[in-house]
Amino acid sequence: VLTEHSVAELRKRIQRWRAIDQKVALVPTMGNLHAGHIALVKHAHQLADRVVVSIFVNPMQFGPQEDFAAYPRTPDADKLQLAVAGTDLLFTPEVDEVYPGGMDKVSRVEVPAFDGILDGASRPGHFTGVATVVSKLFNMVQPDVAVFGEKDYQQLLVIRRMAADLSMPVQVVGHPTVREADGLAMSSRNQYLTKSERAQAPLLRRVLSETGVLLRDGNKDFADLQTQALRRLTAGGFRPDYVEIRNADTLAPAGAEDARLVVLAAAWLGKARLIDNLPLDLSVPQDRTFVLSQPETVG
Ligand code: PAF
Repeated sequence: VLTEHSVAELRKRIQRWRAIDQKVALVPTMGNLHAGHIALVKHAHQLADRVVVSIFVNPMQFGPQEDFAAYPRTPDADKLQLAVAGTDLLFTPEVDEVYPGGMDKVSRVEVPAFDGILDGASRPGHFTGVATVVSKLFNMVQPDVAVFGEKDYQQLLVIRRMAADLSMPVQVVGHPTVREADGLAMSSRNQYLTKSERAQAPLLRRVLSETGVLLRDGNKDFADLQTQALRRLTAGGFRPDYVEIRNADTLAPAGAEDARLVVLAAAWLGKARLIDNLPLDLSVPQDRTFVLSQPETVG
């Protein structure tokens, strides 16, 4: 797969496509690609003429005690998968290319509307790191459309809000979470699980689904539902960080009148901090879940 490491070369390539009016999609990743990422790439192909995938493990979004150094890096396997998926261009910059003056004094992008709560509270500075690097990637690639996984639900809202607040001319598209056969959301961090933890891990999704069923049944005692879910996770060997029922669009605590809800969870299992979520629209009788994606132009 065609690979560029420098912003200057990346821009030259993209300029050639722009010159003939081709539409460009970006799929930002941190590599160690799995079927969830490949689904994003395939979706991007439906939305644009050209698909750029970036692989950059962004130090700015990791806390000092987090797994930046240990984060799995598998460049050869990634390239092979991207070639098979038909990626037009892979952009893999070094840290110095993205942060030439270092990270300490770099200008930052903050998204207070969605930071400071949930994962923003548990991981201080994380979403500033995400918003900063994604805004830099948007400026480097200048894509028409960018595709992100819905597994990182809060991240998707952060990026969509950033693009809207800062008038970035890019359509931010969400793609439903891709799961293993037993329901576990695909994630690079699943590799941190031991064999027995891997067998316990699908409980996270199960607890979210059961909470979803109770919500569909009309249960509005959100605090009690959250407590029950936390108990189930703890009993199943997790160290839960949070289980929260929120308004799907604002992430404010769910109100009794809200129809669009999302149940979000983060929980440690051994060395892995797993996250998952269940969006549901109570105004739609049949469908269990809805897709956060905006209406899309396909073709
Ligand atoms: O979701 C990720 O892999 C990262 O947070 C992203 C969006 C590539 C930014 O570094």
